[in-house]
Amino acid sequence: MRSGSTFKDTDSATLFRMLLETAVDGILVIDERGDLLIYNDACEKLFGYLPDEVVGQNIRMLMPDPYRREHDGYLKAYRDTGEKKIIGIGREVMALRKDGSEFPIYLSVGEGQLDDKRVFVGIVHDITARRDATRQLQESQAELVHMSRFNEMGQMTSSLAHELNQPLAAIMNYLSAAGRTLSRMEAPEAARVRDLVQKASDQSARAGQIIRHLRDFVEKRDHNRSEEDINRLVEEAVDFALLGSDDLDVKVDIEFEDGLPPVFADRIQIQQVILNLARNAVEAMQECSLRRLSVTTSRHDEDFIRTSIADTGPGLAPEVAENLFKPFITTKEKGMGIGLSICWSIVDAHGGELWAEKNESGGTSFHFRLPSTPD
Ligand SMILES: Nc1ncnc2c1ncn2[C@@H]1O[C@H](COP(=O)(O)OP(=O)(O)OP(=O)(O)O)[C@@H](O)[C@H]1O
Ligand SMILES: [Mg+2]
Repeated sequence: MRSGSTFKDTDSATLFRMLLETAVDGILVIDERGDLLIYNDACEKLFGYLPDEVVGQNIRMLMPDPYRREHDGYLKAYRDTGEKKIIGIGREVMALRKDGSEFPIYLSVGEGQLDDKRVFVGIVHDITARRDATRQLQESQAELVHMSRFNEMGQMTSSLAHELNQPLAAIMNYLSAAGRTLSRMEAPEAARVRDLVQKASDQSARAGQIIRHLRDFVEKRDHNRSEEDINRLVEEAVDFALLGSDDLDVKVDIEFEDGLPPVFADRIQIQQVILNLARNAVEAMQECSLRRLSVTTSRHDEDFIRTSIADTGPGLAPEVAENLFKPFITTKEKGMGIGLSICWSIVDAHGGELWAEKNESGGTSFHFRLPSTPD
């Protein structure tokens, strides 16, 4: 036996059987035509067929389309041209159970010789769990991104509504002054113009109402709060925040206080706060040589849990510091300047508080506290 082993040749058959029986992954051996020669115990569990039902049959029966349709072609192409699609490497493909259901596998294929005949050895690793975990991560990420867009829209609507209210009120004042002046005029056209001015005034009042409704709608959206473990929320959100910044090589320190009571919060919204703060921190450190993000949770006092996000960036620009939590304040070329104002509204709506501090060793810390639920 050429592979590393301390067994003597006489043990080979036993060893071989033991390997097949105990392997956690499926092991399949096929001949050049694709007919199954070996189908181990793990395969029974994976595919649901007994060995008698498959050995001697073509391996296509374990594959759903399009693999099933294409497999003969692969083998033929390999025989004729030596072109390798999967042999010697491996890849993720779909497999087919006896009951007709499909499942994802990682299939690696090696080539060997048995009695002068070419055979292929496939190792089948079920990746259903991994796929599910990846899908779950992608789904919550998509949900977070969606909610953050939704929140941004809400915040912008709110700010716009606020900004539009003032000029609208002024227009209405001017129109009513114009109407009063016109009613004192004798000219024959005055009544006609007064009527038009009244119509304009009615329409402005209507615009004001629409804006008020819009604001109410955005600000009183249903909350979706429940008891949440802040440490878990922080852990997930920091992971999201760091996605895509591998090359920045940010060193992350997370320090959780154990045994914190849960907070009563909207999971997505609070994760968005953490995400925005952590993103800002990472963005602030882009040009720095030392990039350290420290995230801590702790008991603030009897009633509040505090989360802190500290960076080693350049600190807040003075012009920003004055209006830190107002919308549309930004020093970034592509920034909207609404991240912090959204964080502020969310924390405030939760009965908490958000504030920033200069670190003694340089950089900035953002802290927010949320009311804890009673023990
Ligand atoms: N950790 C930080 N260190 C230094 N400056 C910061 C930090 N966090 C925020 N700032 C400053 O505050 C400004 C406002 O931040 P905010 O998150 O509201 O908007 P933004 O990051 O510019 O854009 P976006 O809307 O995409 O989040 C930033 O442009 C930046 O100048
Ligand atoms: Mg931001």
